[in-house]
Order: sequence, then structure tokens, then C-alpha cells
Amino acid sequence: MIGHREQWSSRLAFVLAAAGSAVGLGNIWRFSYVTGTNGGAAFVLIYLVAIVMIGYPLVVTEITIGRKTQRNPVGAFLSLAPGTPWWLIGAMGVSAGFVILSFYSIVAGWALAYIFKAVAGFAPDMDFAGTFMGHIGSVWPPIFWHALFMLLTLGIIVAGVIKGIQRWVRILMPALFGILLILVLRSLTLDGAGAGVAFYLSPRFDEVTAQTFLAAIGQAFFTLSLGMGAMITYGSYLSEKHTIPDNAGWVVGLDTLIAVIAGFAIFPAVFALGFDPAAGPGLAFITLPAVFAAMPGGSLFGVLFFLLLGVAALTSAISLLEVVVAWLVDEKQWSRPKASLLMGAAIFVIGIPCTLGYSLLSHVRFFGMDILDTYDFLASNLLLPLGGLLTAFFAGHVWSARELCREANRPAGNIRIGRWFGVMIKYIAPAAIALVMVTGLFQKFSG
Ligand code: PHE
Ligand code: NA
Repeated sequence: MIGHREQWSSRLAFVLAAAGSAVGLGNIWRFSYVTGTNGGAAFVLIYLVAIVMIGYPLVVTEITIGRKTQRNPVGAFLSLAPGTPWWLIGAMGVSAGFVILSFYSIVAGWALAYIFKAVAGFAPDMDFAGTFMGHIGSVWPPIFWHALFMLLTLGIIVAGVIKGIQRWVRILMPALFGILLILVLRSLTLDGAGAGVAFYLSPRFDEVTAQTFLAAIGQAFFTLSLGMGAMITYGSYLSEKHTIPDNAGWVVGLDTLIAVIAGFAIFPAVFALGFDPAAGPGLAFITLPAVFAAMPGGSLFGVLFFLLLGVAALTSAISLLEVVVAWLVDEKQWSRPKASLLMGAAIFVIGIPCTLGYSLLSHVRFFGMDILDTYDFLASNLLLPLGGLLTAFFAGHVWSARELCREANRPAGNIRIGRWFGVMIKYIAPAAIALVMVTGLFQKFSG
């Protein structure tokens, strides 16, 4: 390792950056359509249990591993268990970063394109499904927006932790909270919003299957940026004088709050205008423009919404690219600019099949999923839970839960983790993830 490692300049900077990573397309685009297709409130309940039982303990664990080792995910496992193959967990994480960012940037590109569609205005008689299909089904426009989004992402990452990530999350995160608040107030005051609130809050347990549990765990990992070392990497820029359990609580709390609030912004609007909540990945892009078209001042709210989506995506995308860049900078001694540029370009290329899956490659299907959904499924329901399972097992049994707790509780803060935490990390989290993965995958692939 050469040079000295950058560190967040304050506790707030770290919390904003980590919450910026967590809060993203996962909270708004993905959370709303996965909730809509998995039984509404019943799904939300299982998801909340997963956040508390598995999500929070793993966020603490990843940040602690990062702060302790001051290394990228591969280097972190190498330094805790030298001469063993455990670094492969980190390598799997870096690969997951590639896969996630490549499709994430495509969806973020849709959001950027829609900012401009909203500026041009949504008219009530527009064919919103046709407009969306037309956009994602065209060849060059989505590639252009994908390229632009990757350029924004790598532009921030080239500048480094302080002048890049920290500087931008300080501006973008408050903007995001403000925009979201305006949107929720607008949505909840629409005529007919009550049916959406009812859909969102009344659980239909008859729709729950093994796949619902897998979807909930997948969503919990995706939304908290867990299982691929993003929190290890951001933790590696945290100074020893900052506390972990309470800061992790802020990150998990903010992410959960924003997902739940986004649901209140989306479902009432969807129902008020008579759309189908189970519309799938197009939910935010098809139904919401119709909602905006139908309400006074809709264009302004439309611009705000897609801006919100773009901003949230950007502060998450930088954390995905940072994992890959930190690995090359720490372990392969690449310069930051070289790593950012080359990896940004590689991820751009890997993302292209995802968008072509709606045009030139629309005949390509894996178990009924298009290419983008396949990337998402592979990352969220396979790589992330597996990475999380192995990280929990490693921290609890190889590094040891005692060391983990001692390190996480130093220096003492407002929250102290104790014995229940060790039990979660050693036994409950790995067992629950394994059970849900095996049954969910079995159900999915046995048809
Ligand atoms: N947590 C981000 C979201 O909810 C996505 C993400 C996953 C970011 C994994 C980093 C790592 O949109
Ligand atoms: Na999230």
C-alpha cells in the first residue's frame, strides 16, 4: 500500500455517505415494485423483520471489519485471516459490485431520461406504457443515458473520498430528503389516496410463499448495500475515534424510513389513478408519469421525482464503484484515476446487454426473466445473501464474535452491542439466510 488512506472528516460525513449508499433505486423503484408484486404489506412485514434481525447486525459487522482493517473487502479478509481462502468472500463482493452497477446504471439512465420527459410535460392522454416501452426498447437513447450516468459516477470517484464522495453526499442527501417530503405530501392529499394506503398497510398472507421470503431477504440486502463489501469499504475510511453501533443505527433507520415513506408516495398515487400496483419494474416509470399528468403542477412534481431517483441512484452508484476502485488501489497499486476510468468503462460495457434485452436481445430469457432482471436476480437473491451469510459466519466463528463485539463497541457510544448480537451473527443470521435461500431458490427453479 502506498500513500496514506483518506478518512471521513466527521461523523456526519460518514453517516451521509453510508446512508447515501443505502438509499437509492432500491428504496424507491425496486422496493415499490417488489412490494407490489409480492403481496403488499405481508411482504413489507417480512422485510422489516429481515432488516432488524439480519440487516442491522450485518451493517455493524461490515463497518467494523472495514474500520478495523482499513482495507477494501478483499484486503480486509486477507488481513483478518492471512493465508486462508476467506478473501474469496471479498472477491465475490467485488464481482457483485460489477454486476449490480452495470444494471443499476441502466435504470438510473431511465430516470435521467425521464427528468427531460417531465420537463417537456406529461399529458393526460399520453400512452404511458407505450412511452416507457418505447424508451427502454430503443437501442441508442438508453445507452446514451447509461453512459452519462457512468460518467457522473466515475467523475465523483476519480476525485476521491473527501473531494468526491463526501463533498457530493453533503449536497445531494439533504436535497433528496427535501424532494421526497414534498412528494409524499402531494401524493397523500390526492383524491382516492386511501385505497393505496389500504393496499400498502393490509397484509395478504395467503400470497406469501418461500419466494416471498427470498424476495424480502434479497430486498433487505440490496437496500442496505450489504453482502458485497460496500459497508466494509466505507467503514475502512472511518477513523478509530468514531463509534459504530449508533452510526449504523442511523444508516439502517434512514434507509428503512425512506423506503416506507416512498411507499406512501407511490401506492396512494397509483390507486388514486386506478393503476395496477403489480405492474412490475415499470411501476415508477409508467404509473407515476400518469399520476403527474393528472394532477395540477404535475410537470414540476414529475421533474422533482425523477431528479430524486437520479440523485438517490448517484449516491449509491459511487459506493458500488468505490468498492471496485478501492480493491485495485489497495491490492494492485493502481492509481485512483486509472482504476476509476477503466472499471467505469468495463461496467458500462457489461451493462449494455441489460438494455439490449428490451430491444435487439429481447428473445433472450433465463427462467422467464429478461437480461436486466437476470442480473438483478443473480446479484440480489444469490450473490448478496451468500456474501452476507459467509461474512456473518466468518465474523462470528473465524474472526470470533467476541473480537467483533469488542471492536464494534470501541469507543463507547450510545448503543452497546452485547450477547444477543453474537447469537444473531453466529447462528441466527447464517441459518435464516441459508434456509430462505435454499427453499426460495428450490421453489423458483423447480417451477
Ligand atoms: N443500496 C442501494 C439501493 O438501495 C443499492 C446498492 C446495493 C448500493 C449494493 C451499493 C451496494 O439502491
Ligand atoms: Na436502499
